[in-house]
Formats: sequence, structure tokens, C-alpha cells
Amino acid sequence: MIKLSKDIDLAKKWLDAEQVIAIPTETVYGLAGNIYSEKAINAIFETKKRPFYNPLIVHIHSANQLTDLVEELPEKAAQLAAAFWPGSLTLVLKKKDSVSNLITGGKDTVAIRIPNHPLTLELLAKLDFPLAAPSANPFGSISPTTAQHVADYFPECLPMVLDGGDCTNGIESTIIGFENDVPVLYRLGAISKEEIEQVIGPISIKNHSKITSSTTEAPEAPGMLTKHYAPKTKLILTDDVIATSKKYELQQVGFLLFQDIEVTNSSSTKEILSNIGSYKEAASNLYAAMHRLDQLHLDIIIAQKFPDIDLGKSINDRLERATKN
Ligand code: TXA
Ligand code: MG
Repeated sequence: MIKLSKDIDLAKKWLDAEQVIAIPTETVYGLAGNIYSEKAINAIFETKKRPFYNPLIVHIHSANQLTDLVEELPEKAAQLAAAFWPGSLTLVLKKKDSVSNLITGGKDTVAIRIPNHPLTLELLAKLDFPLAAPSANPFGSISPTTAQHVADYFPECLPMVLDGGDCTNGIESTIIGFENDVPVLYRLGAISKEEIEQVIGPISIKNHSKITSSTTEAPEAPGMLTKHYAPKTKLILTDDVIATSKKYELQQVGFLLFQDIEVTNSSSTKEILSNIGSYKEAASNLYAAMHRLDQLHLDIIIAQKFPDIDLGKSINDRLERATKN
């Protein structure tokens, strides 16, 4: 049985023994193991049912650890690390040979971040190794933002969730790589494109629109797989919630709304992501609201499209992927 606990020493004990446990971060919970243990890394892929071509993010507690892991740090990467670490930014950098191909899906680059969660930072500082950690959900399903979400996904196959409470940012980190030293945005996330551009200037988003989960070739950042973050219930995304709601009047509908909208459906449940119209608050509530609606066995979830700016853009990215189930 899985144990929910705040005991950092117990977490260290499991990790030192090459076991996989779940850890909290400010974005989502991760499924963590010692990057130097083949046994632990294999167990992460096995637990998540994740294809091996989809690489893992390495979590460190200090930028000093980069020298063990990467060959070089482009200037713009250093600027981004200084601006956002600890925080929800993942940098994809040229890896050293010491980083196993198992972690990187055979790529010559490795994805790295310093998460901004007090329990996990303390844990990382006590360990003699960094932690590889994908989001702690089965491949393709909604990411977990509470310890209970993780326990519901993996009741039997993990010894422990380090319980750090609700994830404050609530969507995954923003991923940036470098192609000939030019920064490229691989995954929209908890740090907005605009915030990134304030530090390093304009950045392009790698277009992954043609990639689907049945693509056999490894995508640049499979976080960009079109089917991802999907609830089991069919979800539709719309600019016009009222018009769409009228098409489903006789059905059990879940509404996933940025702010409150009056609907007339007789059988409906509403999740309002931010009463004050804050994108940040909406992002932090997004996955928990999707989890709740998904448990109600509704006929359909109608989600409101966000304005396509700031974190609204990252939220729309996740909602669009959630329509592809
Ligand atoms: O917020 C987060 O990033 C969370 C927490 C736990 O840190 N982690 C997370 O991991 O979202 P995961 O495995 O669900 O997503 C990692 C993404 C994948 O899309 C993967 O393809 C991409 O990072 N990635 C990892 N290594 C890469 C590399 N070398 N090149 C390009 N993309 C990479
Ligand atoms: Mg994930």
C-alpha cells in the first residue's frame, strides 16, 4: 500500500535503496528515482507505462550540479536559469556521457530543472544524486497536483508519496531547448512565453501539430504529443460556452470555466477556475478540476477557451490536448 508522508528521511531511504517514490513540485507531482540507478529508471518507465523514446526531466537543487551533467551552457540558458530557478523552467542542454541514454531517450541532450518546492529542495540537497522525474500519472492521463491524485493512480505499485500539499502552479514546467544556440520553446507551461521573452527576447514555438501519440518517431519534446493530459470523459473546447451548452441540454454536462457563466442546462456541474479572473489561479486549479469532473461519469465536459495570452496560452495548450481523447 502506498503511504502519504511528509518524512524527508523516509523518502531518502527509499531513493537510496533505488526505489521509485512520488515527490511534490510546484508544477505537478513527479515519479522520482536516482538518475544513476538503471533499476530505478526502468521502474519509472514501467510504472508510468511510458514509451522509452520519451525522455525524463532531471531535477537538481543547485545550478552547480550542471557541471556533472552537461557539456555546455549557452548564454541564454544561463540567463534563464538565473531568472527562473528554482522554478517551473526546464532547460534542454547538451548532455555529458555520464547521463544515461535511458533517461534521455537516446538523445544527446538532457532536460534539467530546479523545482521550487521546499520539501523536494530539502530532499534533493540531502541526496548524493539528482532525481529523474516525469509527472506522476500513467502515460497520457491528467497530471497529478495533489498527493491523493498520485495515490489514486498508483495505489499498489509505489511505497510512498512525499506529501507536499497542493501544487501551487498546477501545470507542468515550460521547456526550452537550444538549436545552434538559438532558444526554442518545446512546451508551453507554468512560466509564460511573455515572461521568458522579457529575459531573452523573442522565442519561437516548435510546431508539433502533426505529432500524435501513434507517431512512432520520437518527437523533439513529446510533451507536445497531441493526445496528452486527457480526461476519460469527452471534452470540447469552445469560445462560446452558452451556444455550445444548448446543444447538450438533455445530457449530463460538466463545465470547466475560467469565470462564472450562467447556463440553463438542467443537469450540470460547474468548475470555475478563477473567480477573480487570474490566469495563475486558473492554472493552479486546472488539473484538480479536470480530475473532479472526470470522476462524475458525465456525458461531456464543455471547457471555456482562455484568452490566448500569458498563462492563458499555456492553459489553452493543455485544454486542446485534452480534447484529443
Ligand atoms: O513540471 C514538470 O516538468 C514536471 C515535474 C514533475 O517536474 N515533469 C514533467 O515531466 O512534466 P514529463 O516527463 O511528464 O514531461 C517531460 C517532458 C516530456 O515532454 C519530454 O519529452 C521532455 O520533457 N523532454 C525530456 N527530455 C528532453 C530532451 N532531451 N529533449 C526534448 N524534450 C525532452
Ligand atoms: Mg507528463
